Amino acid sequence: MTTSTFIPFLFILLFSAAKSNPVILSLRTKKIPSLALMKPPNKLLFHHNISLTVSLSVGTPPQNVSMVLDTGSELSWLLCSKPKFHPFASSSYSPILCSSPSCRSQARDLPIPPNCNSTSHLCQVSLSYADASSSSGTLATDRFRLGNSPSLPTIFGCISSSYSSSVEDSNTAGLLGMNRGALSFITQTSTRRFSYCISGRDSSGVLLLGDPSSTVPFSIPFNYTPLVEIALPLPYFDRVAYSVQLEGIRVGSVLLPIPKSVLVPDHTGAGQTMVDSGTQFSFLLGPAYDALRSEFSRQTRGLLKLLNEPDFVFQGAFDLCFRIPERVPIPRQIPPVVLMFRGAEVSVTEERLLYKVAGERRGLDAVWCFTFGNSDLVPLEAYVIGHHHQQNVWVEYDLDKSRVGFAPVRCDLASQKLGFGN
Ligand SMILES: *[C@@H]1O[C@H](CO)[C@@H](O)[C@H](O)[C@H]1NC(C)=O
Ligand SMILES: *[C@@H]1O[C@H](CO)[C@@H](O)[C@H](O)[C@H]1NC(C)=O
Ligand SMILES: *[C@@H]1O[C@H](CO)[C@@H](O)[C@H](O)[C@H]1NC(C)=O
Repeated sequence: MTTSTFIPFLFILLFSAAKSNPVILSLRTKKIPSLALMKPPNKLLFHHNISLTVSLSVGTPPQNVSMVLDTGSELSWLLCSKPKFHPFASSSYSPILCSSPSCRSQARDLPIPPNCNSTSHLCQVSLSYADASSSSGTLATDRFRLGNSPSLPTIFGCISSSYSSSVEDSNTAGLLGMNRGALSFITQTSTRRFSYCISGRDSSGVLLLGDPSSTVPFSIPFNYTPLVEIALPLPYFDRVAYSVQLEGIRVGSVLLPIPKSVLVPDHTGAGQTMVDSGTQFSFLLGPAYDALRSEFSRQTRGLLKLLNEPDFVFQGAFDLCFRIPERVPIPRQIPPVVLMFRGAEVSVTEERLLYKVAGERRGLDAVWCFTFGNSDLVPLEAYVIGHHHQQNVWVEYDLDKSRVGFAPVRCDLASQKLGFGN
C-alpha cells in the first residue's frame, strides 16, 4: 500500500497442496534455501473486496491470522493484542534488539526509520497512515507459515499501540509486506516469483508462490513488462516498489494526448508507476488524469449522467461521478480504458470502471464514481495500479527476470480448474 492510500479490508483464506515441478525445484533449492524453493510452488486461495487477504499461521503453537497482501509495502506487521495475535503465547516469538542488523542496515528502505527504546533496548517501528494517524510497535521475529509451506522465521512489526484505522474492527490481523525491500516477506523468504488472479465475480482469487507453469495445468498467456530500476536514490522514487513503465492510455480506440515526459519519473523521482495489491483503485498524476477524465467524459456523454456536484469527491481523489438509476445495469457500451505498459497492456472494462458509492442516493439514482483517481488530490507523487483494476488479470511478479506479467484470465474459471470450486 502507499501510505497515503491505505484502505484496510476483509479476507478469507483456503489453500491446497501444490503439485511440484522437480526440475524447477532442484535448480532453485541449490541456489537459495527458501519458502518458495525448498518445496513445490504453493497455491493459496484468497478473497478480496477492499483489500486482498490471505490466511496464514504465526507462532508456536500456530495462531491463525488473516493478513492483507500488499505488494506496495515492505515490513509485515501484526496487531499484537487480543484477539489478533498473542506474542507471549508463542514460544518462537522474539523481539529484536536495537543492535541487530535487522534494526539498522536491513531497515534502510523503511519509510520511517526504526527508533531505539532506551529503556528496553528494543527496536521500535512505526507505521503511518493517510489520515495522519500512526501506530508503533516492536520489531520482532516469529515463525510464519503460508499454506502448506514449511514455517520460517520472519521479521515483522508487532504493533501494540492504539491503532486508529478500521483494521481494528475487521478480521484483519495485519499486513504481509510483499515489495522488494530487505525486510519484506518476499525478500526474507527468498521468494523469486509469485502471482495472483483475482476474480471479478465472487471476491475470490488464487495466490501462487513459485513458477505457475509448474503448477497450473493450462497455459497463462502472459505479456511481460520490465521492472524499472534506477541507479541513484531519488526522494520520490520508491526503489523497492514493483515499478513499471506506463507508455500511454487509450479510451476505446483513442490514444490520450499525454506527453511522454509526464509518464516517466522526473529528476525528483516523482511519476513512477507502481503495481500495488495493497491499494484498491488506481491513481494517475494530474496531467494524465485530466486527459483521461476529459476523454472518458466525452465518450460517455449520452450514456452516463454526470453527477454535477463539484464538491463531491469520493475518497478525496475520485471526482468524476455519475448518477445511475438503482437496479439498472451499467451500460455495456462504456469504452474500455487500456493501460499501455512497455510490452504489455491491461484493459479495464465495464463495471470495473465505475464503483458504486455506498450510502449515496440522488432521488432514485445511485452515485457511481470513475475508478481512476487524481494523484495530485491525495497527494501522491506516483501512478498506482490498484487491485480493483487487476481483477480477471493473472499478475505475476518475476524477480529472476525482473519483470511483471499480465494475462487476461477469467479468474473464477481458473480457480475452478485448479480445484477451488465455488
Ligand atoms: C465486501 O464484502 C462483504 C461480504 O461479501 C460485503 O458485505 C461488502 O458490502 C463488501 N464491501 C464492498 C465495499 O464491496
Ligand atoms: C487454523 O487453520 C487451519 C486451517 O484452516 C485449521 O485446520 C486449524 O484448526 C486452525 N487452528 C485454529 C487454532 O483455529
Ligand atoms: C520502552 O520500553 C519500556 C519498557 O519495556 C516501555 O515501558 C516504554 O513504553 C517503551 N517506550 C516507548 C516509547 O515505547
